[in-house]
Amino acid sequence: MTSTLLRVENLSFRYIDTERWALDDVSMEIEEGSITVLAGQSGCGKSTLLRCMNGLIPHMYPGDYKGSITMDGEAVDKTKMGELAQKVGLLFQNPENQIFMFSVERDIAFGLENLGLPRDEMRKRIDEVMRMLGITSLALRAPHELSDGQKQRVALAGVIAMRPRLIILDEPTSLLDPQTASELVSLVRDLNRDLGITFVIVEHRLELLTPIADRIFVMDRGRKVMEGNPAEVLTDPRASGYGIAVPPVSRLYSELKRDGLDLGRVPTTPRELAEEVNGR
Ligand SMILES: Nc1ncnc2c1ncn2[C@@H]1O[C@H](COP(=O)(O)OP(=O)(O)O)[C@@H](O)[C@H]1O
Ligand SMILES: [Mg+2]
Repeated sequence: MTSTLLRVENLSFRYIDTERWALDDVSMEIEEGSITVLAGQSGCGKSTLLRCMNGLIPHMYPGDYKGSITMDGEAVDKTKMGELAQKVGLLFQNPENQIFMFSVERDIAFGLENLGLPRDEMRKRIDEVMRMLGITSLALRAPHELSDGQKQRVALAGVIAMRPRLIILDEPTSLLDPQTASELVSLVRDLNRDLGITFVIVEHRLELLTPIADRIFVMDRGRKVMEGNPAEVLTDPRASGYGIAVPPVSRLYSELKRDGLDLGRVPTTPRELAEEVNGR
């Protein structure tokens, strides 16, 4: 049984003093416990949609707002930011914007302090989340001394410690080297599987996320233009027209199919392609 955690209905948004609608009649549903990827060219409205999901729009950004987003049946624009912060965690593109305190543990504690938790509960959550993200040894280090990958983990730890049901990541791998990026992807998979956290992720490098994504939405000029599971979207000839970098292995599948060889399952990784070929 799945249930809808977040429902976006005919949502349009235009920033104050701008001509163009940054979001233009967008509707989508995010299932509880799923991993959703948002893709599309720069400026198509991905970050704007994420801001609507966690309430920054319309609470912090003025503009024209039409339609609705409901989380668990409650309208986001009518829910207080403080309440939303406990349900929806947002990791910004640049973790520097999110970490600023004197030590890693102080940083993770920051959001928790606003929840008014007892001290021992806070301590427990901080230790737990540091262990989960493998940053216990960094507890007393100053965030600015850390590598980009470590900073990303600290920022994510701060978000996870709040125990939100939905975590939103805006281009989380953009500052990371390939190795650290794939570690982040494994971490998302584990958090989703073990804690049931729902994820919405904006990502350009689709090949990183297609192995774990349940759904992909593609946007173009403020509109949702494609929707499906990774296999459907990656083999749709329209995808590259919308600026989606279709992984070479998925393109190879489409070419083989055009030549009359249908592998059945659309591979999203070289490993999956090898398995399909060997299984024949
Ligand atoms: N704070 C803002 N004020 C005014 N316009 C904005 C603001 N943020 C984004 N926009 C505009 O909204 C549109 C969508 O931007 P954005 O959501 O950032 O796209 P993406 O994240 O897909 O690159 C763009 O035309 C952008 O210029
Ligand atoms: Mg953006």
